[in-house]
Amino acid sequence: MASQFLSKGDILLHQFPDNETYVKILSPIKNADVILYATLSQPNQKILPLIFSASTARLLGAKSVGLIAPYLPYMRQDTVFEFGEGVTSRYFANLISKNFDWLITVDPHLHRYKTLHEIYSIPTYVLSANDLISQWIRLNLHRPGIFGPDAESHPLISSISEKLNVPYFNAKKIRLDDNQVILSLPTIEGSFSFAVIIDDIISTGGTVIQLIKFLQQTITQPIVVIAVHPLFANDAYNKIISCGIRELVSCNSIPHLSNKIDLSPLILNSISSLL
Ligand code: R5P
Repeated sequence: MASQFLSKGDILLHQFPDNETYVKILSPIKNADVILYATLSQPNQKILPLIFSASTARLLGAKSVGLIAPYLPYMRQDTVFEFGEGVTSRYFANLISKNFDWLITVDPHLHRYKTLHEIYSIPTYVLSANDLISQWIRLNLHRPGIFGPDAESHPLISSISEKLNVPYFNAKKIRLDDNQVILSLPTIEGSFSFAVIIDDIISTGGTVIQLIKFLQQTITQPIVVIAVHPLFANDAYNKIISCGIRELVSCNSIPHLSNKIDLSPLILNSISSLL
């Protein structure tokens, strides 16, 4: 087990009155392989303290500095949609690649990029929550049908439906703006007792709410929603719950009261193989 090789270190982070960050690493790390674990939802306020911590680890003589970011932000702006826009996924990848020796993450939002290697120049280890999500469904829902809201959800929902040997249905999504999307679904065939919507990221909730509404007009089975990365911007969580679904469940890549699927065994295993 990786935990045999790991010891927990302490960092003191302090905000000065003007909001600049003070960093002090309290644990001895000379010649150590240092791993920083960061929840990178709301990344703008976290990234400077993270980079400063990595630089301080190097100053103190760390042999290597790796990053575990179960949720990898800035993956969705993966092209120039309109002239003048920045491709922030690349800028973010450059920043991380310059400051870390390797990265472990879970189900990053890969759409136009097929792999993280296209933008990250350090070794990246991409884990998937699909086994843990399948396990949760197997234990909690009898005869599920799996639904994905867009093309990007296809790898996740197809692998989960294969593991569970149950049908899946993949919607098509057209995004109008940050909050509004239009969805269309293929004919729903086959028998199932629960409709399980699975998406990698829930941010405003607009995407899953459209799919919930569509399904509520089409089928009578109870609906369960599962998110790998529960960003839940503003009041997204309450908006989704108030749609009248059976349950909203998430992985703990971002701490939230909906967390029911623990990613730590997955991450610990990957550290074991890495070490
Ligand atoms: C994008 O394609 C992702 O897979 C999610 O569907 C999307 O980020 C969800 O965003 P929102 O909750 O704001 O609709």
